[in-house]
Parts: sequence; structure tokens; C-alpha cells
Amino acid sequence: MNESQMTAAAGSALEDIIHARRSVRQYQPNVAIPDETLNEILELAAAAPSSWNLQHWRFLVIKDQARKDRIKAIAYGQQQVSDASVIVVILGDLEANKTAADLYEAQVAAGTLPQKVLDTLVGQIEAAYQNAQFARDEANKNAGLAAMQLMLAAKAKGYDTVPMGGFDPAALVRELNIPPRYFPVMMIPIGLAAAPARQTERLPLSTLVVNETF
Ligand SMILES: Cc1cc2nc3c(=O)[nH]c(=O)nc-3n(C[C@H](O)[C@H](O)[C@H](O)COP(=O)(O)O)c2cc1C
Repeated sequence: MNESQMTAAAGSALEDIIHARRSVRQYQPNVAIPDETLNEILELAAAAPSSWNLQHWRFLVIKDQARKDRIKAIAYGQQQVSDASVIVVILGDLEANKTAADLYEAQVAAGTLPQKVLDTLVGQIEAAYQNAQFARDEANKNAGLAAMQLMLAAKAKGYDTVPMGGFDPAALVRELNIPPRYFPVMMIPIGLAAAPARQTERLPLSTLVVNETF
């Protein structure tokens, strides 16, 4: 295969994964995902793009059965939380500006970023993060990209997922001792399906797409 054929083959594999991913709500209990596979999934999720490359996501990984059972109650009794192998709570970083200096200083040290550019970037970022709503919007938006990538990566490794917003965030923060810098954006159970997902429909492009202007 030449390079463009390989790219096309990878493209069609990605299409298959996108179509195969569905929100699975019934999981085989007592299935362990090997740490190596889970780490590969998390690495792929973390390869998502982010504003200023601030990587506003953190992954709170829960495998302990008793803890999953307590989180099920926080998620209004949704059974998938107990039965899935792992729950990944995607956290958004409200202080992602604090990542900037360290991140860019490594690039300055490596000679790939001039100090002057670092100073300008850090100044812009600090100014933007004075606004708490901006910080929260950024965390939500960027963590969502990692969450999507995590679900596709899991599917590529043979595991199913369901994105979940149906939980009591304050109770989750208490249960998991989440510090104020972070907030739970989404919860993603990962595991092996015990029953297929419900089929869902999508709106047609004629509804979704606006060409040029409204
Ligand atoms: C932000 C978000 C929150 C969601 N919360 C829940 C949830 O709490 N429980 C649940 O069973 N499904 C939840 N879903 C899954 C949606 O119902 C599902 O993605 C949608 O119906 C489309 O189905 P599909 O994912 O199988 O394509 C959520 C999805 C998203 C993106």
C-alpha cells in the first residue's frame, strides 16, 4: 500500500468506529480492562486539541466496585455506573492558565519557542482567565473534545462507552474529593456490552447545515 492508500484505509477504519460507537447502557460486570489498554485509551484521549494547548482535561479513573456503586447513587441509579469496568470522570480545569508557563517554558528550553513569544502568550492567557465564565466555558469545550476522543479510542480497542451528564455534580465532588480547581464535565463508563445500544437517529444535513449565512 502506498501512503495515500494507507491514509484512505485508516480513514475508512475511523468511519467504521464512528458509526459503531453507540451509547451502551448494559455492561458485563466483573470485566477488567488491562491497565495497558486503558492507558492507551487515555493517551489517545489526551491527544485532543485544546485552546492554547492548555489541555483542560483531567481523567479521574474509578475501578473500585464499592466506589462505583456509590457513584451509581449519585448518578440517579443508572446501572451502567456499577457494571462498567471503569468509570472515567472527565474533569475540566478552571485554572488551565496555570499550565501555560510550564508547558511553554519547556519549548523555550528546547529552542522551539522564542522567550518573547512565550511572554506574549502567557500575558494573553492570564488576561483571558481573569474572566471566570471564560475559564469555565474553555474547560467545558476543551474537555468535551478529549471525552469524544476517549469514546472513539475505547471503541477502537473493542470497548463500549456512554457519555453521562446525569449525575449530581456537588455530590460527586464530595465523594471523590475533587479540588475546587476542577469540576466534573462528564462521566464515561467503559466496558464490554452485555446488550446492544438503542438505535438512535440523526437530524438530516438539510436541518443541520447552513450554507454561508442564515
Ligand atoms: C453530555 C451528554 C450527557 C449524557 N448523559 C447521559 C446520561 O446521563 N445517561 C445516559 O444513559 N445517556 C446519556 N447521554 C447519552 C445520549 O443519550 C446519547 O449520546 C444520544 O441519545 C445519542 O445516542 P448514541 O450515543 O447511542 O449515538 C449523554 C450524552 C451526552 C453527550
